Parts: sequence; structure tokens; C-alpha cells
Amino acid sequence: MYFNQRVAMITGSGGGIGEGIAKRLSEFGVSVVINDVDQAKVDRVVQEITDNGGEAMGIVADITKLAEVENMFKSIVSRFGKIEILVNNAGIAKDRSIRKMTVEDWDTVLAVNLKGTFLTCKVASEYMREQSYGRIVNISSRAWLGGAGQANYSASKGGVVSLTRTLALELGKKGITVNCIAPGLIDTPLLQALPEEVKQRLLKAQPSGKIGSTKDIAHTVAFFASDDASYITGQTIFVCGGKSLFANIG
Ligand SMILES: NC(=O)c1ccc[n+]([C@@H]2O[C@H](COP(=O)([O-])OP(=O)(O)OC[C@H]3O[C@@H](n4cnc5c(N)ncnc54)[C@H](O)[C@@H]3O)[C@@H](O)[C@H]2O)c1
Repeated sequence: MYFNQRVAMITGSGGGIGEGIAKRLSEFGVSVVINDVDQAKVDRVVQEITDNGGEAMGIVADITKLAEVENMFKSIVSRFGKIEILVNNAGIAKDRSIRKMTVEDWDTVLAVNLKGTFLTCKVASEYMREQSYGRIVNISSRAWLGGAGQANYSASKGGVVSLTRTLALELGKKGITVNCIAPGLIDTPLLQALPEEVKQRLLKAQPSGKIGSTKDIAHTVAFFASDDASYITGQTIFVCGGKSLFANIG
């Protein structure tokens, strides 16, 4: 995969999948901006990338707030002179049946997963238009197909798929590609915290018979984000060990 000394920002990259994406891109010589809401998480990932010889900058910002998103991109462009790759990875879940789901549960999840993705795309695409170059990669979830107890999460991730397709149409002629990845079960602290019997049940429902790693997602992001993927846009790829084949399994 080829990267022409690009600059990338990955939201929610203070841990989990986002950290894996940032580290993978850094291995390709990409300068990476680590964004999260937690300063300690940001500092740790920046330090580890820098210790490994990569170039990294940390920015604490809440992607649900337009002013913070605007300031973040201003800081990135003021340090690197450009922003070429945006990975919308930050996401949260508050799973409950619709009976128990509060309006706040709905609003909070939609705010981070969908509105946050909209805001970063809106601001970053202005810089990318000026450069006539951009790669946007959005992280949805296999759950966009539907998941019992996940009305808010599933709807937000379905929204990310629709947003991807729409922005690909709007930004294609500006040299900007917009693609999406729908991960299945990935081994992050979130998953590790589940009770063993729940993990075993989820594993049984995997056609691949295994849980994916953050590297599985990072490799796919790197491909979409590379210079090589210039003729692919508006696409959503499942990286889920085949679980999307059984769309009705929550
Ligand atoms: N882990 C999985 O199995 C799995 C499966 C499918 C999809 N996903 C998606 O992958 C992405 C990453 O998931 P993960 O498992 O690494 O989760 P995670 O909780 O480990 O990491 C998400 C990060 O986003 C940050 N964040 C939350 N709100 C934010 C905000 N408003 N602004 C900036 N950062 C914010 C968190 O602090 C956290 O560090 C999410 O979008 C998630 O929905 C994960």
C-alpha cells in the first residue's frame, strides 16, 4: 500500500480499534493525529507511536461539539499544513430494549456515532476540497443490519452507511473518497469485559469461529485510506468473520 507522506486524524484513537488504526497508519509513514476525550489515553498513544519512530500529535476534543471539531482541524492544519485522511472511529453503545431505552440513551449514542461523524466530515471536507485530495473512512458496525437491544446503536450505524454513500456522491469530483467499514466482534476492552458465557455464545454465532482483532480493522482502513484506493468510493465493507451473512442474529 502506498501513502505519499499523508496526514491522518483518527477520532477516538486513545484506545481500542482507533489506537490500532493509528499505529497501523503510522507504520506506513503517515503522520497521525490522536483524538479522544481523555487526555491520559491520548498522551499514552502519542508517546507509544513517537517512541516507535512515528510522528504523532494529540488533541483532546469532543466530536459532538462543532467548535471543538473546528479548533481541532485548525490545530492540525497549523502544524502539518494539511489534513488528508479522516477516520471516524469514535463510537459508543448504550444497549437496551426499546421499552427500557430512554430518550437520553438515544440522543447520546446518536450524538457521538452519527452527529460526530457528520461534524468531522463537514469540517475536514472543506480542507480536503482545497487540497483536491481526501480519504474519509467511517467506522460503522455489522449491527447496522439490525441488532435486538440496539435501536440507538444500530440506527446510528445505519446512518453512518447512508452518510458515507451521500458524501461519496457530493465529494467525488473533488478528489475525495468516502468509504465505510462495518466491523463484527472485535477484541477490545469492551468485549473483554463481557461475561465468559456471553463471549462463548457470541463466538458460536461466528461463521469464522473466531473473534477479530483491532489489526483486522486497521488493515482494511489502511487500504481505503491509501493512495491506491482512488477508484473506490461510497462502499461499505464488512470485516466481521462472515457474521453479516446472518443478518438476523443480534
Ligand atoms: N469492538 C467491537 O467489537 C466493535 C464492533 C463493531 C463496531 N465497532 C465500532 O468501532 C469503533 C471503535 O470501537 P472500540 O471497540 O475500539 O471502542 P472503545 O470504547 O475501545 O473506543 C472508542 C473511543 O472513542 C472515544 N470517544 C467516545 N466519545 C467520544 C467523543 N465524543 N469524542 C471523541 N472521542 C470519543 C472513547 O473515549 C474511546 O477511547 C466504534 O465506532 C464502535 O462502534 C466496534
